[in-house]
Amino acid sequence: MDFKKLRQDFPTLRADDAPAYLDNACVTLKPDSVIDMIHEYYTKTPGCGGRSVHRYGTKVSQSTTHARSKLQKYINAETAKEMVFTRNATHSLNQVAHGISWSKGDVVLTTDREHNSNLVPWLQLEQEQGIDHRVVTSNDDNTFDIEAFEEACGNAGSKLKMVSMSHVGNLDGVKIPIKEISKIAHDHGALVCVDGAQSTPHMKVDVQELDIDFLAFSIHKMCGPSGMGGLWGRYELLEGLRTIQPGGQTVKTSTYDSLEWANPPARFEGGLGNFSGMMATGAAIDYLSRIDMDAVNQHEIRINSIMTDGIKDLPGIEIIGPLDAKQRGGICSILMNDLPSHDIALLLDEAEGVMVRSGQHCVHSWFNDRGHQNGSLRASAYLYNTEEEAKLFAETFSEAVQAFS
Ligand SMILES: Cc1ncc(COP(=O)(O)O)c(C=O)c1O
Repeated sequence: MDFKKLRQDFPTLRADDAPAYLDNACVTLKPDSVIDMIHEYYTKTPGCGGRSVHRYGTKVSQSTTHARSKLQKYINAETAKEMVFTRNATHSLNQVAHGISWSKGDVVLTTDREHNSNLVPWLQLEQEQGIDHRVVTSNDDNTFDIEAFEEACGNAGSKLKMVSMSHVGNLDGVKIPIKEISKIAHDHGALVCVDGAQSTPHMKVDVQELDIDFLAFSIHKMCGPSGMGGLWGRYELLEGLRTIQPGGQTVKTSTYDSLEWANPPARFEGGLGNFSGMMATGAAIDYLSRIDMDAVNQHEIRINSIMTDGIKDLPGIEIIGPLDAKQRGGICSILMNDLPSHDIALLLDEAEGVMVRSGQHCVHSWFNDRGHQNGSLRASAYLYNTEEEAKLFAETFSEAVQAFS
């Protein structure tokens, strides 16, 4: 697989001042085909899909239906009716959390390294409805502690209703054994919701093989348009889920005092949709579907190994998670102790065009628990990154650390 060749598909990477873009865990760059599709919607068929029957409406309906089927194939869902278009992974996770009927004392388990999107909805439910959110502590190197998880399931007993965990952590790139987790959770009678924001862009994710119940993901991290995410759920579970956005599109019919809900996925897609985003999602999935995702995963690990080897011995810094890049995919997240992570991130861009993320990456809970208020500096690779960029990151970062020490 010639990953360098792919760079030609991305306008920002063709530019003379192309950056070494290493902030892919936040949002990825977009290829021409995705941008062209957004342009096509606005210039050729700027109508309303799913309702209007004129030419514009019909074309949009066809394109969005195709996009939904492409998503279904990408994650191997049983039917396209299980695919819900959302605004982002946060919206998807909220649809699950606030769509289920809870009883006081119901237990929800997460890990101790969740993005706020898979923590705050549960904390809100704890405050407002009295659910019992519990945290499964990871091993010291942030890898998953399956024994601690089994024990937590046992302790919760019949109160255990939901296990909701990120497949790959945005804090450290560490992947957790979802299939095993799902088996244990199901044996305890719980549902399994997976935050796939950091897995679906980088590896094959097969919802049937993993045997999970819900999957939330961010299309904007998959070469797709911003403002787009996805939710997959087993159809019978979606049928029982309350919509968090009732309105147009979500009912079959209504009277002044009654309504008949539409079937999924329409029930969850209230209001006029982001049609250009849905059409461009189809283009993004077409783009990724032509690439071997196992090769992408290996490529990212290669890039990460170069970054890791180039910085791991610097004084005063520490890589979050296992030192072995193979266990952190494309993410190299560095604790800075007293060094100013935002200043260093700014310097990397100004000096050499290296774009990384600094701060707490919406995983405040992990940093607060350990007293690392300064957060970390995170470099995250994707399919278009090169070994030269990884070396440039390591060199520039090393110089910056020396300058600020
Ligand atoms: C693991 C994880 N979960 C959830 C999210 C939230 O994604 P979104 O911005 O699509 O809501 C992110 C975003 O960085 C993430 O990395």
